[in-house]
Amino acid sequence: MVAGNWKMNTTVAEGIALAGAVCAAAAPADGVDVAVLPPFTHLWAVHSVLQGTGVRLGAQDVYWKDAGAFTGEISPAMLAGWCDLVLVGHSERRHLFGERDDEVGKKFVASLAHGLEVILAVGETSDERDAGQTFAVVDRQLDAVFAQLEGAPGLDSWVIAYEPVWAIGTGRTATPEQAQEVVAHIKQHVRDRLLADSPRVLYGGSVTAANAASLFAEPDIDGALVGGVSLRAEEFGVIIAAAAPRDSA
Ligand code: PGA
Repeated sequence: MVAGNWKMNTTVAEGIALAGAVCAAAAPADGVDVAVLPPFTHLWAVHSVLQGTGVRLGAQDVYWKDAGAFTGEISPAMLAGWCDLVLVGHSERRHLFGERDDEVGKKFVASLAHGLEVILAVGETSDERDAGQTFAVVDRQLDAVFAQLEGAPGLDSWVIAYEPVWAIGTGRTATPEQAQEVVAHIKQHVRDRLLADSPRVLYGGSVTAANAASLFAEPDIDGALVGGVSLRAEEFGVIIAAAAPRDSA
């Protein structure tokens, strides 16, 4: 899976054009689950562009209530039925906007309840890594979500994105070995806690056309969540091609 998080970039017109270019760039890569996550203002228009292309549509965030006096928020009920995915727990939401682990859990559960596939982002800061807390941090972030799953609908459509905060937008990509180590830990943690198979786990943080293939060569890395480079369709297309199953080439 390769998902492009556009963050707060592009006008609506630019986003429509970018979505078209991504579809063209993604078309040759069979067997890769491709998604774009434009800003909320673009979603409806981009939804039309993606029709029939196989490229899926995602939102970058969501609130956990269905409706009500929550000025500025978007609910999962508003996205349900036409938007495929929603990203929750991105490090920019956690660190710039003070989102807590339990709030991420509420967003996760509410999105599943509306049939949206959820990409749950987790990851440590550089201080946490230096202090040897990487595994403890991702475990805490995952457990805060799992704590809210009781009575929630089945966990059949979700994805985890491991995104070390120090690698996001910094050009300082985790080495394939560093990423593999944490992704393997995450999968084991999910199996231990949920007594079920782990979903796909993506890596995110300064993924480029140049480093994608070496990340995807690791046994547990199932794709990428791409920020900056997802705004450049051709380069994004190279990342998608690098994710194509080897036997389909
Ligand atoms: P980046 O962002 O690729 O620009 O580092 C990744 C992300 O935030 O998902």
